[in-house]
Amino acid sequence: MALSFSSTAALVTHASGIRAGTQNPQPFKTNNQQQQLPLKKIPGDYGLPLIGPIRDRHDYLYTQGADEYFKSRIQRHQSTVLRLNMPPGPPISSNPNVIALLDGVSFPLLFDTNKVEKKDLFTGTYMPSLALTGGYRVLSYLDPSEPKHGLLKKFLFQILSSRRHVVIEEFRHSFGSMFGDIEKELEKTGKADFGEFNDQAAFGFLSKSLFGTDPESTALGKEGPGLILKWVLFQLGPLISIGLPSFIDDLVLRTIRLPSFLVKSDYQRLYDFFYTAASAALSESEKIGISKEEACHNLLFATCFNSFGGMKIFFPSLVKWISRCGARLHSKLSNEIRTAVKLHDGKVTMRAMEEMPLLKSLVYEAFRMEPPVPMQYGKAKKDIIVESHDNVFKVKKGEMLFGYQPFATKDGRIFDRPEEFIAERFIGVEGERLLKHVIWSNGPESESPRLDNKQCAGKDFVILVSRLLIVELFLRYDSFDIQLETFALGTSVTITSLKKAAAPSLQT
Ligand code: HEM
Repeated sequence: MALSFSSTAALVTHASGIRAGTQNPQPFKTNNQQQQLPLKKIPGDYGLPLIGPIRDRHDYLYTQGADEYFKSRIQRHQSTVLRLNMPPGPPISSNPNVIALLDGVSFPLLFDTNKVEKKDLFTGTYMPSLALTGGYRVLSYLDPSEPKHGLLKKFLFQILSSRRHVVIEEFRHSFGSMFGDIEKELEKTGKADFGEFNDQAAFGFLSKSLFGTDPESTALGKEGPGLILKWVLFQLGPLISIGLPSFIDDLVLRTIRLPSFLVKSDYQRLYDFFYTAASAALSESEKIGISKEEACHNLLFATCFNSFGGMKIFFPSLVKWISRCGARLHSKLSNEIRTAVKLHDGKVTMRAMEEMPLLKSLVYEAFRMEPPVPMQYGKAKKDIIVESHDNVFKVKKGEMLFGYQPFATKDGRIFDRPEEFIAERFIGVEGERLLKHVIWSNGPESESPRLDNKQCAGKDFVILVSRLLIVELFLRYDSFDIQLETFALGTSVTITSLKKAAAPSLQT
């Protein structure tokens, strides 16, 4: 039986509530020692060697899609903790066997770096060639137990902190110009591809706000986003479909690695740009014991893969969710934003944004509905116990754990009406209590990235820029219309109208 999208939460709730499949009903004390849950053998299997992994990845990539792939297996095994294969698998990668954590209780185990190792698994069971990152294992692939992890994360924290005073101004400049360009495109052709404009604005903004350099004033010109996209495709190709007929798609992307020399000169152009643009930061890196070269490859990765990649995925998603909220919410949001800005002398400041509860809640809700990096991995450092809503499971040292975040953040036993976008969900004391279940940053929203954890180094920066996008939008416009199209590589947002705000004086 095919299941509809909206049945995810019901299914997660249902499956995790079932005790019939319990094989060993002896009670087991949980971490918090408040309840005793029955111990259950982890259900599911990996199929025959080679055949099982290839069949599973065809289901995942070509016939079912991620949501249905996980849903159907939860239903088959009546459990939200289960064994399955995750692409790519053979021949390009040897072992696709994982234990999947598909509810909001079991998922956070992946944040506990005492229990799980995060070495070389940023992209899951397949790790891209080091030739794509200058021969270095960059920060995202390091476990906190490795000395370089703390050093490199500290280096990034220093840059983010030293540049925080220019972020709002640079954002408003880059994205203000972007909306001006979108208006011109609307006048000319009646529509504007938000993704294209967003890519240029995001890369320009990141370069200016983090390093003080406008890429358009350098040899890179407007080519940054295109070069990044190609480089990212060489890293993530084995994990995705590019929309070719399935047999060819699978053969091209998952037989051997795409040869990295094909992007060598593109990568070099990005490297040269960062080496000059970030020269001041690179001099600082040497003082804390990181060579300029290693620091530069890391800055390139953090800016192009982590930051640009995140904004490229999340901003269109944010615009889509706001658009779907309709005219009443648009009016409430623009009132809230304009009133707070007026109270702060017409300036957009951190303080002013703290006084925008609807805006803050809406951003968290967009992250809950569509976490931009939906999959996380971790390898058990020792024999451990995984806890779901209703059972506990034993995991052996060395086994690979995997979490699909949307099933944790849309868990119906944690969130009311989990499949609905409720903009006000996180307002007030009860709403704030739920923030610990918003985990887009590889950690609870109520916690912070540290040198000894794997939470996103840019967490606060990301929240700030997401709020700024909406502020900019509603200071300039009363409402807007979009068209959505779904492609092999995701959703694309086309802006079809922008209704200018009645109070343009606030657009400073
Ligand atoms: C929407 C934007 C972003 C999203 C959704 C996002 C998400 C994530 C996630 C899920 C992880 C953990 C991956 C894992 O280990 O499994 C991560 C790690 C990381 N992110 Fe972000 N990120 C975003 C933007 C940024 C920005 C702006 C920076 C800039 C500094 C950044 C820097 C990093 C770094 C350095 C790590 C590795 C942290 C560590 O090793 O301790 N990210 N991010």
